[in-house]
Amino acid sequence: MSIVITGATGQLGRHVVEALLQRNVPAAEIVATGRSLEKLADFQSRGVQVKPMDYSDAASVANALKGARKVLLISGSEVGQRVDQHRTVIEAAKAEGVELVAYTSIANADTTGMKLAAEHQATEAILKESGIPFALLRNGWYLENYTDQLPGTLAQGALAGSAGDGKVSAASRADYAEAAAAVLIADNQAGRVYELGGDHAFTLAELAREISAAAGKPVAYQDLPAEDYAGLLAGFGVPQAFADILADSDLGIARGDLLVSGSDLRTLIGRPATPMPVAVRSAVAAG
Ligand SMILES: NC(=O)c1ccc[n+]([C@@H]2O[C@H](COP(=O)([O-])OP(=O)(O)OC[C@H]3O[C@@H](n4cnc5c(N)ncnc54)[C@H](OP(=O)(O)O)[C@@H]3O)[C@@H](O)[C@H]2O)c1
Repeated sequence: MSIVITGATGQLGRHVVEALLQRNVPAAEIVATGRSLEKLADFQSRGVQVKPMDYSDAASVANALKGARKVLLISGSEVGQRVDQHRTVIEAAKAEGVELVAYTSIANADTTGMKLAAEHQATEAILKESGIPFALLRNGWYLENYTDQLPGTLAQGALAGSAGDGKVSAASRADYAEAAAAVLIADNQAGRVYELGGDHAFTLAELAREISAAAGKPVAYQDLPAEDYAGLLAGFGVPQAFADILADSDLGIARGDLLVSGSDLRTLIGRPATPMPVAVRSAVAAG
């Protein structure tokens, strides 16, 4: 009986496998799955089971879930296809009679109006209708959404967005992954809904100030109408449809859709979440 991680080739999935190993889950009880076994070879060499899984290939999903006790369904990255893909995983988990499916959803899924949330809301509905035991890991924004953009932000001397004075409770992928591992290891998780985000929400103006202080260069937050921000992103090569979704997500931040109250993340990981200034400073130091 095993713990199956979907999307284990991705950044969050890799952190989750590491977090399970760190928490002394025997490697042989972890099944890391993904479309490319090559990307999982390092885990295999450490005794983790690896199996191919493409969310769009029901046979591969069913095969990868054989013998699963618990499953972490990491939401896919192919926006527009995810509801059917996630349904395939949920149906296979049901057929296998798993003890728990934990799903990485989005913060405030009950109330958020962000376009990006629609596929998460649909997946949550499928989980509820399925009748299987499930837990919701409603992840807030990643700090890396910002720190990964640092070279461009510093080159421009500006952090652009459409979030106004809205606050975002961002946290690091590693922290969300630790929370997922904690849920997978714990008993009695069916029915649990976790709203996960950093301990201290911040505005994008505050983020810009922190980047500026860490890098010793002027960086100002430039608030733009959503259309202009989407246009700017498209100009940098982001596909227009995704640029629109990102600009819409900033409007969500302005409304408070990515503001997480409570302390679910801190409680699950047993320590404060990595603060934004720490993440910014280590990203600046890493160059
Ligand atoms: N909270 C946030 O700020 C935020 C930001 C971005 C994304 N997300 C969501 O969180 C998820 C995990 O984040 P991440 O940083 O780990 O993203 P990531 O690095 O892009 O990883 C996405 C994972 O999904 C897998 N995947 C995509 N389509 C698949 C398919 N058809 N079959 C099987 N696997 C598939 C990818 O596999 P391959 O390696 O084969 O591509 C990869 O393992 C994302 O997929 C997205 O839903 C959240």
